[in-house]
Amino acid sequence: MTVKTGMIKMDKLLGGGFPLNERVLLSGGPGSGKTLFALKFLLEGARKKEKCCYVSLNETKDELIRACKGIDTLKDAEKYIGKNLAIEHIPLSESITMKKFIDIIAAYPKIDRLVIDNVNKLLIFAESERSYRLNLSELVKHLKPMGCTLLLCETKNEDIDTGNGESFECDGVLQLSFLDLEEKPMRIITIHKMRYTKFDPKVPHEFVITDKDLKVTDTKII
Ligand SMILES: Nc1ncnc2c1ncn2[C@@H]1O[C@H](COP(=O)(O)OP(=O)(O)OP(=O)(O)O)[C@@H](O)[C@H]1O
Ligand SMILES: [Mg+2]
Repeated sequence: MTVKTGMIKMDKLLGGGFPLNERVLLSGGPGSGKTLFALKFLLEGARKKEKCCYVSLNETKDELIRACKGIDTLKDAEKYIGKNLAIEHIPLSESITMKKFIDIIAAYPKIDRLVIDNVNKLLIFAESERSYRLNLSELVKHLKPMGCTLLLCETKNEDIDTGNGESFECDGVLQLSFLDLEEKPMRIITIHKMRYTKFDPKVPHEFVITDKDLKVTDTKII
């Protein structure tokens, strides 16, 4: 059984969608499309009456609603918010540390689709890189019963994680990045890892964001 991303070509590349119960790292630089990809993924589930939740450590609920309003196929998000789509803004502070954050997530009921935007923000509130890795491992354990979790991760340049083990802890790794072609720079998406799934590793595909929709195209970047 698979969990559809909401993007036909993306699902095809994944052999049908994300494997059930997997925790997938979606990494990328600023503006690469992490948040919009995650919102598209959640809305796909919300429309099927699945229980969906966006846990945001960055943007507020209003900011996320505004992001949806800019794209035709995400415009109906508000219809589901407060019903089967929850948007939880958890601003981390000295009082909400990584440990407390894990407790909050561990107390969640089983959710079909969960997004955490973004996991590396927890680094700021970790005592050390070692404690971050240990807590990350603990967090990921609590996510196993969920239908599918997307953990967003901010990265630099060509990195697939922050260097603190996020890509090792997760079952799958997708990377969003930019290709600086002279004629026209483009967004690309690459599957680096998807446990128990057959896929073409490290073949980037074009990822397009317009005011109408988000999609992965047939263009293979060689
Ligand atoms: N309606 C639209 N049409 C075209 N492009 C859009 C539209 N709405 C947003 N974008 C572009 O999509 C980009 C990606 O947005 P998104 O917020 O998903 O990126 P992100 O990877 O989450 O960024 P950050 O690292 O800042 O959180 C935006 O920077 C914007 O340029
Ligand atoms: Mg974002």
